[in-house]
Amino acid sequence: GTRVVLDCDPGHDDAIAILLAAGDPSLDLLAITTVAANQTLEKVTLNARRVCTAAGIDVPIAAGCARPLTRPLRIADDIHGTSGLDGPDFGPPSVDVVDGHAVELIHRSLPATVVATGALTNIALLLTRYPEDAERIDEIVLMGGSTGRGNITPYAEANIYVDPEAAAIVFGSGVPVTMVGLNVTHQALVTPEVVARLEALGPLGRTCAELMTFFGETYRTMFGFAAPPLHDPVAVARVVDPSLVRCVDAHVEVELTGTHTTGATVVDLDGYRGLAPNAKVAVELDVDRFWDLVVAAIGRLG
Ligand code: BDR
Ligand code: CA
Repeated sequence: GTRVVLDCDPGHDDAIAILLAAGDPSLDLLAITTVAANQTLEKVTLNARRVCTAAGIDVPIAAGCARPLTRPLRIADDIHGTSGLDGPDFGPPSVDVVDGHAVELIHRSLPATVVATGALTNIALLLTRYPEDAERIDEIVLMGGSTGRGNITPYAEANIYVDPEAAAIVFGSGVPVTMVGLNVTHQALVTPEVVARLEALGPLGRTCAELMTFFGETYRTMFGFAAPPLHDPVAVARVVDPSLVRCVDAHVEVELTGTHTTGATVVDLDGYRGLAPNAKVAVELDVDRFWDLVVAAIGRLG
């Protein structure tokens, strides 16, 4: 299968991304690494261990950066709760982290495709510490940014906003980058029908349904969404089957000094700037096949 490393900050949608990456037969999940964003590093790392314990996933986990490259950490406890993964009752985890920093685990796991579903701090640090790794990363598929509006400020999406300097390093790295932003993840809405399909799977599916119920409640009260968007698994799905997520080539710049727009991804879809594309930008999701993929992967694990 496709060799994959998943760098994440679980996080409700990250949790499902872990399950999709581990449960889909076309992927060979080599490592899970964590980064502070949705919650503190300590909490998101505990959550990765909880998810792997609940699903019987036996993959090395390593903790990475506890804060962005230059800015103070901004967590999203309003969306993901005090634990970062509020909702179900997870027992004490039975899987532990491996020794050493996430960057070292990613470095050892290459060559691989890197899927990043949190702030890009670990990935930027990897590319800075080991510039030669740029050649050994097949592709960086990241959930982050937007071709349009944001979700943490009017024009910035949370993963980019938390560490825009790291995101700028990634987009400027020369590694093939695929950006799966809000414009497409907002098509992956966890409808009551999806929740019912998860519940029907058994204990692991019911845990997922409980996660989605909590996530749905915060998205309803915070953003007025009728159903919550399952951002991070869309990036994994793009690796499983590129035909699920249609992309266009474009030049993407991360706003680092905007008066009101820091962390915005400026996606030059119309080629106004005449610059060579530095990314593939997701624009459309095959929603039905996406849910079939997610439900099948969780069913396989459960
Ligand atoms: C992203 O921010 C986090 O809250 C989610 O896990 C996702 O990665 C969406 O903006
Ligand atoms: Ca995330």
